[in-house]
This record gives sequence, structure tokens and C-alpha cells, in this order.
Amino acid sequence: MAEHSLLLDHHLAQTTMYPIGTEISHAKGIYIYDKQGNAFMDMVCGIGVSNWGHGNEAVNQAIKDQVDKHLHVMVYGEFLQEAQVNAARNLIALMPDPLDTCYFVNSGTEAIEAALKLAKRITGRTQLMAIEGSYHGNTHGSMSVSHNEHKKAAFRPLLPDVSFLPYHDEQALERITHRTACVLIETVQGDAGVRLHSPAYMQKLRARCTEMGAMLILDEIQCGLGRTGSLHAFEAKGIIPDILVLGKSLAGGLPVGCVVAAKEHMQLFTHNPMLGHISTFAGHPVVCAAVAANLDRYRERLAEAQVESKGKFITDYFASHSVIQGMRREGLMLAFDFPSIDHVNTILDRCMDRGFIAFRFLSRPMSIRWAPPLNITFEELNKACQLFDEACRY
Ligand SMILES: Cc1ncc(COP(=O)(O)O)c(C=O)c1O
Repeated sequence: MAEHSLLLDHHLAQTTMYPIGTEISHAKGIYIYDKQGNAFMDMVCGIGVSNWGHGNEAVNQAIKDQVDKHLHVMVYGEFLQEAQVNAARNLIALMPDPLDTCYFVNSGTEAIEAALKLAKRITGRTQLMAIEGSYHGNTHGSMSVSHNEHKKAAFRPLLPDVSFLPYHDEQALERITHRTACVLIETVQGDAGVRLHSPAYMQKLRARCTEMGAMLILDEIQCGLGRTGSLHAFEAKGIIPDILVLGKSLAGGLPVGCVVAAKEHMQLFTHNPMLGHISTFAGHPVVCAAVAANLDRYRERLAEAQVESKGKFITDYFASHSVIQGMRREGLMLAFDFPSIDHVNTILDRCMDRGFIAFRFLSRPMSIRWAPPLNITFEELNKACQLFDEACRY
């Protein structure tokens, strides 16, 4: 892992002194190409974004068609724009009752901010609860409900009245009370290294929130829309949230976030105060055109993708590996545990040398993540496993 200032040298902010640094030429299918013509198998989908590979033709065409019609015309919520209507129709067609209204914003963290505000507005309460190990984004509000203190300390003070429930602790659900505005939870924890919640736990959480009148907000920004094998990760848990938050893969590669809730709740943003949540570029027509195209035939495409079988293929492949110390998986969302951070750094470098992109977790430094394209073939997956196995040899 070499220290360098490649982005800074180009007048671009950097987020680490160890960026991968590869200069990108183009991307197609499961491959990203550098300027020297090297192909890299993208096994993280830009961290859960290009879930159907790069350069999806239907999405690209929808973007081009919308560009020719119009770009931004007005702040969100004033004009009725066909692209937004189409995106909402296709998204709500995939939702269970009572989730019938969506608010498209520009990023995951913004959607979290909006969801927290909505929960406060619905309940008239202030206490925000989240789960130990959570990651919900990097703006002040989202950071407040994310757990990793090491990443937060430099930016305090953050939001007041935030508390964290211990991970997967049923007893602790008693701490949810009539004071609680919401419990925000990743249906599958991403940044914590793919930590799973059992259906039984999620059902008890759902029941306790209902009993106390607290909003249950599911963050499926990373784990939603097929990543775990079911359309929504919550389907496998046998619950329905009050508020669902999506992002990342929703627009097939354009910046997006989305809050989904019942109309009776979402309409609260219209009054007391009026313009209760606003954003200039929210529901951008080009993004919404991409969302609508991306969601077309989603259930059928997901069924064809055989996500669960592919996930099992990977864990079977590495079942008795001498260096991989553990694995966690839901669908095609995977974490591999290694003996040390040095192992992780060396293996990630070796992966790049072999034309293979894996990545690290923010809060689990001794693990490596995979989030391969859902439509990767078994042949490609086999090659990916071979390359990773080579990179993991000591
Ligand atoms: C579970 C989860 N929530 C929220 C976010 C924040 O999304 P964004 O980076 O688009 O702001 C992320 C991003 O990684 C995430 O994984």
C-alpha cells in the first residue's frame, strides 16, 4: 500500500493517503479498464452501486433520452416531471403496503437525514436510536446515528438525544420507549463487516417499535434491491418498515438516495413547516430516468440472477481456506476475515495486480468485502474465486 497524493496533485480532495490510484479509462459489464488497457474484475460494484455491471444499455439509453428532453428545471416538489413519475411508479410497484410514496434525493446520507426528520415529524419525539456497528452516512445527522466513535470524535458535537442499542440484543429492545422517535437499522450491517440480524430479532424489533409508536427505519442503501437475494432484505426477515431508505444501486450508477413511506406520513413535509424537507436537485430528471429504466423487470431479472446460489458457490469455494479465518454472507454481500490488517493490505494489493477489485470495510480493518455484480456468470465467479485464492496464498 503506497502513500501518494495523486488526487491532490490534480486539485482534487483526497480521503486517504493510500488511494488505489488506478487511472480509469472506461467500464463495461463486470470489468473496469485502466488507461494502459488492463481489465479489472469489479467484485465490489463501486461499493454496491453497479449491481448489474457497468454500462447497462437500457439505463444509458434512458439517460441519453432524458438529457435530450431536459435537465434540471425547478427545485424538487414544484413541477410534475414525467421522469420522476415514472421512477416512482416503478419503485412503488416493488413495495409492499403501506409504502406507497417516495422522495428521491441525491445520496444515501441525504436520504437518511430526510428519514430521521420524517420520523421526528411523525412522532413529535426527539430520541433517535440506532444499532452498535451501524453506518448510515457521513453528514452530521447520519454520522450522529453511525456508531464508530473513532470516525466521529473529530466532528463533535453531533446530534443530541441519540442512543445505540447493542447489536442483536433482544433484551435491550426494552430501551425503546414512548420517547423514541425511531429506530434506524441496516437490515444487514454493511460497514460492520456484513453482520446479520436474525428474522426473530427483526420481528421482535418490529413489534417493540409498533408497541411504543416508534418509527422503524430500515437502511437498505447497501443491502437492498437484490443484493441479499430477496428484492428487499426485509422480505427475508418477515417484517415491513415504517420508512425504507434506498440509494447506491437504485439509479444504476448515478447519484441517488430515496426515502419510501406511507403517503399519510410523507405528506407531513408539506406543512408545519411548509417545505419541511427540500433540496434543489432532489429527483433530478436524469437520475429518475435512470431509476425507472434500472427498475424495469426487476423481479424477473433478480430471479434469473440466482443470487443465493452464487453466494453459496463463493463460500463453498473458500470453506476450508488456510488464511481466510471466517466468512459472513447474505446473498452476494460478503465479508472475509483475515488474521491481520497486514494480510488485508497485502491481499488487496495482490488482487489489483491480478486484475481483481476487492475492498476493505470502514470499521472492520481485518476483513475484505465482496459485492459482485448480481448478474456475474458462474464461470466468471469461478475465475474470481481462483484469482482471490491466489492473492490469499501465504
Ligand atoms: C448502509 C449505508 N447507509 C448509508 C450510506 C451512505 O450513503 P452515501 O454514501 O450515498 O451517502 C452507506 C454508504 O456506504 C451505507 O452503506
